[in-house]
Amino acid sequence: MTDPAGSPGGGAAGRYGREVFTPEDPREPERIDDAALVYDPVTTRLLRELGAGPGLRCLEVGAGTGTVARWLLEGAGVTEVVALDQDTRALAALGLPGLRVLTADVTDEDLDPGTFDLVHARFVLMHLPGRRRLVSRLAGLLNPGGVLVIGDAVELPDTRDRSSAYRRTMDAMWAALRTTIGTDLTEVPAYPRYLREEGLREVGAEVFCPPLVPGGPAARFWSGTWRRIRPELETSGLVDARVVERALAYLESPDLAELGPGMATVWGRRP
Ligand SMILES: C[S@@+](CC[C@H](N)C(=O)[O-])C[C@H]1O[C@@H](n2cnc3c(N)ncnc32)[C@H](O)[C@@H]1O
Repeated sequence: MTDPAGSPGGGAAGRYGREVFTPEDPREPERIDDAALVYDPVTTRLLRELGAGPGLRCLEVGAGTGTVARWLLEGAGVTEVVALDQDTRALAALGLPGLRVLTADVTDEDLDPGTFDLVHARFVLMHLPGRRRLVSRLAGLLNPGGVLVIGDAVELPDTRDRSSAYRRTMDAMWAALRTTIGTDLTEVPAYPRYLREEGLREVGAEVFCPPLVPGGPAARFWSGTWRRIRPELETSGLVDARVVERALAYLESPDLAELGPGMATVWGRRP
């Protein structure tokens, strides 16, 4: 299925932050921070390798609680970070020198935030409609020599397991997110090609799957995510309350043994 903007799986009526993951829920910053704990070391290592440092003007798209924006300013010493999000309550509270908070919808075609030496979006595009067009618009914000970095979720599921509570709940989650807000991971492997099509050079990509350890931040993130979308899970027709309970208990149990979902990060430089 292709939506008018060219993204397979588009067409869901809902939006991130409206139908699911509402920012008003007090558990939401904690859920985002659990993922940040797991992925920030990978993201910041790569951003440093790609040249994040003094003099750079950066755009952090869907900045969330601002952990990457903070690192860019305090860890890498970049000159300015424009932290864009549709909900900027957590970002506004950071009050960091060099941080400009921009409350905006990144899918807004009239959005004109300026041009940048680094544009970074992590776990944002996978939830949005018109992904191909968004990649093109983000690439269009780069100064010569500037780098676009996109991170989104990937999963290497055990396809021989169709019946465990974990597998069924994870599958139900992706299906429910896709139906509700259009979340789609199938396009993530195409990002390197998209960046090349946009004329970017030195295109690279890597995948990191954090260990799923009982009670660790990755397990907490998935358990927090399943709890947040429980109504959608249980009306998906794929799992019932008992299966979700078993899957939640498994994430905290010493029996936990899974290759959990991870993140593909893709980057390219404007010549
Ligand atoms: C899963 S969180 C990721 C947060 C952060 N990038 C990180 O990795 O820690 C997705 C973020 O994108 C923001 N977001 C979702 N849709 C958006 C849109 N259309 N425009 C701007 N921000 C959006 C959400 O408010 C949320 O902060």
